[in-house]
Amino acid sequence: MRKQIAAANWKMNLTLQEAKNLASSIASQQVNAGMGHLVLVAVPFPYLIPIQEILRSKEGYHVCAQNLASTNNGAYTGEVSASMLQSLSISYALIGHSERREYNHETNEILAEKINRALENGINPVFCCGEPLAVREEEKQNEYVEKQLKDSLSHLSPEQMNGFIIAYEPIWAIGTGKTASSDQAQDMHKTIRKWVANHYNKEIADSVSILYGGSVKSSNASEIFGKSDVDGGLVGGASLIPAEFIPIITSLKKA
Ligand code: PGA
Repeated sequence: MRKQIAAANWKMNLTLQEAKNLASSIASQQVNAGMGHLVLVAVPFPYLIPIQEILRSKEGYHVCAQNLASTNNGAYTGEVSASMLQSLSISYALIGHSERREYNHETNEILAEKINRALENGINPVFCCGEPLAVREEEKQNEYVEKQLKDSLSHLSPEQMNGFIIAYEPIWAIGTGKTASSDQAQDMHKTIRKWVANHYNKEIADSVSILYGGSVKSSNASEIFGKSDVDGGLVGGASLIPAEFIPIITSLKKA
């Protein structure tokens, strides 16, 4: 059974105290780990340790980095390597969020390297993909996302792809309040799973967790997560509010 995941992406928000309070509130919700449910909390680098302390004893909860360097340790001022994260026992990292692709010029090829560094260091990547509005308007979203997958993931071995986590986040739906319809999400998730089945096999495709991201809220989570190829969500704005994020956790599919 593939994992159903509620992933919080705090982005560049919160003071340390606010972050600790939020983590404590979220962690008050029990997670059904027996059903393969998982909560990831992607925090800014300085908060990895303090938030890990809070989540450590909570079954099913893991702290997650929002990025890591494409290179190994060396003269790269301001960067944080996968081996540093491994030394802190961090086992998840977002890779290729659209904000990093846009503001930090992260290409599909750089992201392939980041995925390699993560996997070499025992870190599970949460690989983000998704099309901008202009591409959706031309109805070229499938080709666009398939190219992101091909360029960044197709070099991975079947073992590395088994149980991999992908987040589909249409850029036009991020932080805009404009959510893809559950049918639009399902269509793209099915396309992504089919791509994995074609490049690997059906068994591996069925093991991959595909999260939807883009204006997920407590009011739309159940409908989106209810779709057969949607295995949870990557949540920005609503993950900063416990009264929003806790119902999102409880909206994960039960079977
Ligand atoms: P949003 O962000 O939920 O605020 O749209 C999602 C994301 O960027 O991961």
